[in-house]
This record gives sequence, C-alpha cells and structure tokens, in this order.
Amino acid sequence: MKNKIKKIGVLTSGGDAPGMNAAIRSVVRKAIYEGIEVNGVMRGYEGLISGELIPMTSRSVSNILSRGGTILKTARSKEFLTAKGQEKAVKVMQKNKIDALVIIGGNGSLQGALALHKDWNVKSVGIPGTIDNDLGYTDYTIGCHTSVDTVLDAVDKIRDTVSSMERIYVIEVMGREEPYIAVMAALAGGAEEVLRPGSSITIKQIAGEITEAEQKGKRSWIIIVSEGFDSAHSIAEKLKSETGYSVRGVTLGHVQRGGSPNAPDRILASMMGAYAIDALIDGHHGKMVGISGGELTLVSYEKACFERDKDRELGNRLYDLTKLLAT
Ligand code: F6P
Repeated sequence: MKNKIKKIGVLTSGGDAPGMNAAIRSVVRKAIYEGIEVNGVMRGYEGLISGELIPMTSRSVSNILSRGGTILKTARSKEFLTAKGQEKAVKVMQKNKIDALVIIGGNGSLQGALALHKDWNVKSVGIPGTIDNDLGYTDYTIGCHTSVDTVLDAVDKIRDTVSSMERIYVIEVMGREEPYIAVMAALAGGAEEVLRPGSSITIKQIAGEITEAEQKGKRSWIIIVSEGFDSAHSIAEKLKSETGYSVRGVTLGHVQRGGSPNAPDRILASMMGAYAIDALIDGHHGKMVGISGGELTLVSYEKACFERDKDRELGNRLYDLTKLLAT
C-alpha cells in the first residue's frame, strides 16, 4: 500500500563511516526529486531529541560525495536509550510534521530505529552505515570497503619493516564484535594469523605456530587482531615473553574510520540512499536496506540487528583460506 510521505528527516548515528555523506546526498536528492521535503537531523538521535533540524535542498549536499565523516555530525546518544528520550524524539517529529526517518548507522543505531518502530510506531527505513559490517542480511555496509583499504595500506607499509627486520608485528584493527575488517585485511594483506572476537586460540598455540614456521624458514609474521579479542600491545607483550622474539604491537585506531570513501562505498551509498526513499514511498518501514548478491533488498530491523550467523560462516571460511595461503 502506498503511503503519502510529505516530509522526512535524515540522520547519521553511531561511529562515522566513509560514504555516509554519499548516502545523505542520495537520500536528499532522491527525496526532493520525488516531491518530499527533507530535514537534516544534526548529531543523530541527540538532535532528534533536542529538535536540531535543518531544512535541506539539493544544494545542501553539493560537493560532499567524496568527503569522509558526515556533514550531519553523529553521536552515540545515551538519552535516546531511555523511554523518556525516545518520547522527546517522537514529540519533535510530531511538532515538525516529519512523517518518516531515514536512519544511517550501524547495529546500535538500527536497534534504536527498531525501538522507535516497535514502541512508538515511528516510520523509518535504515541504511547500514558503519565500517564494522556488523549487520545481518547485507553483504556490505557503507564504509567497510574503505576501511579495509585503509588497513591494507598500513599493513603493506608495516610489512616492509616486518620482512626487512624479520620481526613479528601484531596489528590491532577495529571491530568490537565483528571480525570483518580483521579477516578481510588479513586475507588481502597476507597476514599469518587473525585473532577474532570469541576465538579460543591461545598465546601458547600462536607461539608454537611461530616456532614451527621458523624451523621451516619463515622469519617474519603479521598477526591481525580484532579489538574485540584483545589489544595489540597486550598480545605483543605476552608473545614476546612466550617466544623471546622481537614482537611489536600497533593500534591503527580511528584512522580506519576517516578519509574519502572509495568507489565501492560511494556506489553502495548512492544506491542505498535512493532505494530507501523508494521503500518509504512504497509504504515500507521498520526495515533496513541491504545488498545481497548485488541486489538491493529490504530486511526487518530485527533480522538485520540480531541474525548475523551467515557472516560468521564466511569469516570462518576466509580465516581457513588466510591460514592456508600464509604457509
Ligand atoms: O562503530 C564503529 C567503531 O569504529 C567500532 O569498530 C569501534 O569499536 C568503535 O566504533 C569505536 O568507537 P568510538 O568512536 O566511541 O571510539
């Protein structure tokens, strides 16, 4: 059933990701093309609670396609986690006659969208925007490709020292719960080991692998660790005392979230933004836009936020391949 949407709000929430601006641009221009008025909501759910809204035109999103970060700013709102905060947000929407929202963010942000949908009947469509690739039923989230590129650039550079000085490096990448960045960067960067959140591998086992490989002539190692497993410095210390080798820890940190989005992220963001508007016009809400096998899809917030098993399977397969290719 078609729904008459006259005015929408668009916001970015949670950690910024390269390509969020490209998604905002697509949402704004497609909505205006369809005769829908657009307000930008500043600072994610914080701005929805405080009523920090700005009217947007096609010109408001000029020259942002290639820019990292988000022109709408972003935040992790504590107040929005409470029913009081959500009620305030709903009142702001009513007062400003906003019929629906487009919410661009990661798992936590779309759980917020789910609360608005379920408890307050707020219409919204979500767009997965996070470097973490931590949502189910989408092959990719906006920002994850650029982030892996950034990590790879660092891994390649560190590899020069690793192989020249025959050292062991532990490189920590982002991803509190999801190992996507670690697994992809390890495969593409030729790492010898990847440590994923929840993995049961022990320092003793890694030390054993290193010693065994050394006996076969392998004298340098890169270990990529997802922040959800442990810190690079702590692993480096433990490995050093276990093996007696020279081990260095490097934490890449927020450099992984910045920079101009690469082509895959710009393309994905442009496609998803326009699709979100089509979905709202067609009467869909409480759903996230996903991409599966190259096709855009819609999936319920529940599934997107809480069903991620498929990703784990892929992670396991790519982990095995990484290990095989590093022998
Ligand atoms: O949500 C993306 C993310 O970059 C995670 O990978 C990381 O754990 C977290 O954000 C860091 O958050 P903050 O911006 O609060 O330091």
